[in-house]
Amino acid sequence: MTGVAHFLGLVILCGCLSLTTFYFYASNSKLATIPLHHEQILAKCRVLHDTPSPPHGFAERQTSDRFVSGTKSTLIRNATVWTGHLSGLEVLEGVDILLEGGIIRTVGYGLNAVGDVDIKDAHGSWVTPGIVDMHSHMGVETSPALSGANDGNSMKGNTQPWLRSLDGLNTHDESYRLAVAGGTTTALILPGSANAIGGQAFTIKTRPTAEKTPSSMLVEAPFNLNGTKEQPLRWQQMKHACGENPARVYEGTRMDTVWDFRQAYATARKIRDEQDAFCTAALSGTIEGDFPEDLKWDALVDVLRGRVKVHNHCYEAVDIDGMVRLTQEFKFPIAAFHHAHESYLVTERTKQAYGKIPASAIFAQSSRYKREAYRHSEYAPRILHDAGIDVVMKTDHPLISDRYLLHEAQQAHYYGLPWNIALASVTSTPATVRHDADIVVWDSHPLSLGAAPTQVYIDGIPQLDTPYIRTPRPASSQVAPKTPVFDDEVDAALKNDGLPSLDPISSTSAAVIFENVGTVFLEKNGRVVKVFHAEDANAFGQVVVEGGKIQCHGACALEGKWLNVRRVDLEGGSLAPGLVTVGSSLGMGEIEFEPSTNDGEAPERNPALLGDEAVLRAADGVQFQTRNALIAYRAGVTNAIATVQRNMAPAGLGAAISTGAKHKLERGGLIAEETSFHVSLSMGFEQSVSTMVGELRYLLSGKASGDIGAIFERIVNGTLPLVITVNNADIMTSLISLKYEAEARQGTTVQMVFHGATEAHLIAEDIAKAGVGVIIGKPRSFPQQWEQRRVLPGPPLSRETLLSSLLRHNVSVALGAEALPTGPSQSVIRNARWDVAWAAIDADIGLTDAETLSLASSNIRTLLGLDQKGGYDLVATKSGTLLEFESKVIGVVSPVRGIVDLF
Ligand SMILES: *[C@@H]1O[C@H](CO)[C@@H](O)[C@H](O)[C@H]1NC(C)=O
Ligand SMILES: *[C@@H]1O[C@H](CO)[C@@H](O)[C@H](O)[C@H]1NC(C)=O
Ligand SMILES: *[C@@H]1O[C@H](CO)[C@@H](O)[C@H](O)[C@H]1NC(C)=O
Ligand SMILES: *[C@@H]1O[C@H](CO)[C@@H](O)[C@H](O)[C@H]1NC(C)=O
Repeated sequence: MTGVAHFLGLVILCGCLSLTTFYFYASNSKLATIPLHHEQILAKCRVLHDTPSPPHGFAERQTSDRFVSGTKSTLIRNATVWTGHLSGLEVLEGVDILLEGGIIRTVGYGLNAVGDVDIKDAHGSWVTPGIVDMHSHMGVETSPALSGANDGNSMKGNTQPWLRSLDGLNTHDESYRLAVAGGTTTALILPGSANAIGGQAFTIKTRPTAEKTPSSMLVEAPFNLNGTKEQPLRWQQMKHACGENPARVYEGTRMDTVWDFRQAYATARKIRDEQDAFCTAALSGTIEGDFPEDLKWDALVDVLRGRVKVHNHCYEAVDIDGMVRLTQEFKFPIAAFHHAHESYLVTERTKQAYGKIPASAIFAQSSRYKREAYRHSEYAPRILHDAGIDVVMKTDHPLISDRYLLHEAQQAHYYGLPWNIALASVTSTPATVRHDADIVVWDSHPLSLGAAPTQVYIDGIPQLDTPYIRTPRPASSQVAPKTPVFDDEVDAALKNDGLPSLDPISSTSAAVIFENVGTVFLEKNGRVVKVFHAEDANAFGQVVVEGGKIQCHGACALEGKWLNVRRVDLEGGSLAPGLVTVGSSLGMGEIEFEPSTNDGEAPERNPALLGDEAVLRAADGVQFQTRNALIAYRAGVTNAIATVQRNMAPAGLGAAISTGAKHKLERGGLIAEETSFHVSLSMGFEQSVSTMVGELRYLLSGKASGDIGAIFERIVNGTLPLVITVNNADIMTSLISLKYEAEARQGTTVQMVFHGATEAHLIAEDIAKAGVGVIIGKPRSFPQQWEQRRVLPGPPLSRETLLSSLLRHNVSVALGAEALPTGPSQSVIRNARWDVAWAAIDADIGLTDAETLSLASSNIRTLLGLDQKGGYDLVATKSGTLLEFESKVIGVVSPVRGIVDLF
């Protein structure tokens, strides 16, 4: 792998200088218009049909145009390099890489360092090209988000090809350094999707620059400083969007949006045709008037001339079909359909788009938040690849942090995308290769769960000053995970138009024997313990269950009535307690952005202020058999603490439900009618924080009457946990004071729990001292809002994570889910098992598997005082434990419901 690479846009343009004309009296005394730069018009006409191509001498260049003088060369020794070559199948072991002049100069064995060169011994670590996000809003939808600085969407018109995301790129976004920490070195910054044509997009690198300007972050800028196009032409990028977003913003329908597209393209086509006619005449000697052009439509004309990569936010079959029709009518290619939740259902139609087949740029899981995403499939990456469509995994940052783009590829791999294609989906597919010295050295195989960079080079410059490098990962994480087989699931997804049945294959109260069991975890005295572990395949055990209860585990005597019962081979897998989720709207409805599918939004007012009114109870509004709940169930999240939603955050009395139950009245459907009382305190709410804290103080004083008064009596006497969704350290300290005040007055212990708690590490000692529990909301901290900006980023940026910090201070801690509006939350709850495993890896304090499982199961029950006398669900996984990328959930054993469900 020497050099290599053609980047997504290495190309430039003609020097289309703007024309000036001047007037003079010709000898015949008639006023005539003669172009000042006759030759320039001709030059322009000669390149009228040029398309982007690499800059002159690109393949031979010794230095990148982004090279920062003074950057020392780096020799990385002994790396295991995924080159991206040979369809992504080439891996070079024990190889050296020389970064020089901002490019990859040489990749080879036994390279010698000449001159002043930094040497990094990779000790065989995995090295990949920098991760590339083809769909990011870093800098334009900034973190932390501020309402006065939201530059992602213009509301001034539905088709505005003249806008440029670069003009809103904030250089101080917190996300850049976090993106680098995840190995994301390059991102395409797209305008938002409020408009059919939202404007032009620009590719940036995520490193800081000496110039401290947006311009200096650009990669292969298509325009130079004076606004003319670079030569030879470089690719331009443009955002299009169809479906719900533009229709909603412009109070129209899909029909209106497509008409707007057609009008815009008709305008551009007219200009293009006039230019063609003008130039045909000009090149044969007749120049009449000015070169026909319009600054507003210039970029869309370039789309028709094949100089622009169109990035089309487009979800459903109806939208993809409509866009394909549009490309045929106006003859322009689409680079990629983004989001494209239904593209796997219409692969043949996608391929009929004009020109090159559009790629599909998709999420691994984020879905079902609106109709457009309802038929999402986790198997889409594999299905698309099998159909011959390029797959790109993307973040839509800040929806998913750019730091975790690689995890999207990891999940795609888990659900069946081949490893080489999964790695390509976040490197070479979005950025048809680079020679730039953008290199990531990983501490484990990049497709293994929790892989983190130990160093990131951008333009040959090491980006991590003093990276915290975690304890060496186990040997098993140095190879790509051996993922399960999902062939039947793929067939079912396709056959059922994306809505396969989520019912178990069998649900029985009869005895079932799990065989070849590798590990058994059970919940005992409020924590998970490992009660059985087979050293090797010869020592695999059995687990016998009947009526949803364990009758025997380990070496069971299978005789008598158990001789002829159903047997299930776990192939070395395990049984472990079902996980519990709390904090999201799971259990209260289906499609998050569709009010008619949900319990709805409780009155806009602080829950603490309900006074004599009825107390909100989730048990009154719970909904069963939603796809999000059933999918979570089938991923081992068997219980949910449902809460009423207010301000898109938990409120009122929570209820514990089984995510697999048919309805509330089914045995074990409603596990607990009242688990805890929830309030949310955020700086973004209509009421001031001090108002809300004041109300809570009043309620905790015991002066309130009615239903709410009774609730607060229980809270104050310590029999009902008070769970407060809060992220800001200062608000948390006020709440700690309230707790002390109430306890001092009443002589009781208030069970106070913080949920969310991004900034809790700042006051971990005080939280511990006050006996406040913490349910972490976002599994990996991110400064989405101002009130949570002081994140503990974790390795490689910091030794400590929020989890490790709280555990070190002996805080009772659990891992829950996050509330909106930080992102569609229900669809990703199925990832709880990996989120908790990853949190343990990042905490790097040697948590055992049992302790890790506790964080997302028994610890939540303990914090909420959920006394499940009927017993806890167990989850059966094949080929590994619940915490691994290699295992597959195949069943749930539910003593409360008295059944075993097999999937
Ligand atoms: C490369 O690193 C591996 C792992 O540390 C080591 O076993 C091997 O000997 C190293 N090879 C060279 C050439 O240093
Ligand atoms: C515009 O910038 C380019 C490159 O930066 C330069 O070559 C060209 O002469 C400039 N044109 C004008 C009109 O200043
Ligand atoms: C706590 O308060 C509730 C409501 O007033 C009451 O029913 C319960 O008995 C009290 N429990 C204790 C332990 O004081
Ligand atoms: C946490 O608990 C352990 C074990 O009980 C104890 O040794 C340690 O000192 C405690 N740490 C803090 C910060 O209180």
